[in-house]
Amino acid sequence: MTTTETFNLLEPYEVAEETFVIPWALEAPPVGHFPMNSMVIRGAEPVLVDTGAPAVRPQWLEAAWSVVDPLDVRWVFLTHDDRDHAGNLLPVLAACPNATLLTTWFSIGRMADEWETPLNRCRFVNEGDTVDVGDRTLVAMRPPLFDNPTTRGLFDSKTNVLWSVDTFATNVPTPMPDIAELSADEFRDGQFFGGRLVSPWAAWLDSQKFQAVVDDIQRLDADVIAGCHSPVLRGPRIAEAFDLLRQLPDIPPWREFTQADLDAWMAAAEGSVPPEQPRPSDT
Ligand SMILES: [Fe+2]
Ligand SMILES: [Fe+2]
Repeated sequence: MTTTETFNLLEPYEVAEETFVIPWALEAPPVGHFPMNSMVIRGAEPVLVDTGAPAVRPQWLEAAWSVVDPLDVRWVFLTHDDRDHAGNLLPVLAACPNATLLTTWFSIGRMADEWETPLNRCRFVNEGDTVDVGDRTLVAMRPPLFDNPTTRGLFDSKTNVLWSVDTFATNVPTPMPDIAELSADEFRDGQFFGGRLVSPWAAWLDSQKFQAVVDDIQRLDADVIAGCHSPVLRGPRIAEAFDLLRQLPDIPPWREFTQADLDAWMAAAEGSVPPEQPRPSDT
């Protein structure tokens, strides 16, 4: 485990009492890096929130078990079935025989093209459902932006920590534990970029209806917002992030990178880009 002063990828750090982010990030040229985080709530009945990405499976599992003994894990809350969230689900379930998987009917179905999720270990948790995990009640809620229809976020009313899943996604110049490290311009640009990347449909939204959706989440009054693709938000950056989120229906869509961009990158690399190789760690 580490602190924000000694931040390293795949070294969990505490973001609230007994609540830890497992940070990881992907290089994303030419826009820097994208965080790829997950979370552990080490309460009376420990909860894993998402299971990390398969690209770093051994390292992710080691990081998680540095926070909690896998035999103590009682719950695995899967926000949705995207690879960066569910990629290590089966190894996690194998390592945590005492854990119940909190998921949805549709997520299980969407994962069935790759694996059979053990139904006898599942409990369906839909939007608005609550889960008693011993010393706290967790609330599942749909975050305002998402890139998968099964998505549910998680609010822990004991610590006032909100796991926002793919909402508040941002690129960062370098991986960092806290979004306060971004300049005001980087923060604004990152929220606009990440939001439109995750949810390009934001441009179709009725702005007034969307404000009401955002109100519901902001009314939770979270003290800490952690998410898969964002450094942790606290203090004034939380209100600022909600303000930026509210603007998304009214700004032009993000312009995708084009083949001309790819050609320019390849030319700049002057043939030094190695042929694509399978990742050796996906075992
Ligand atoms: Fe996603
Ligand atoms: Fe994601």
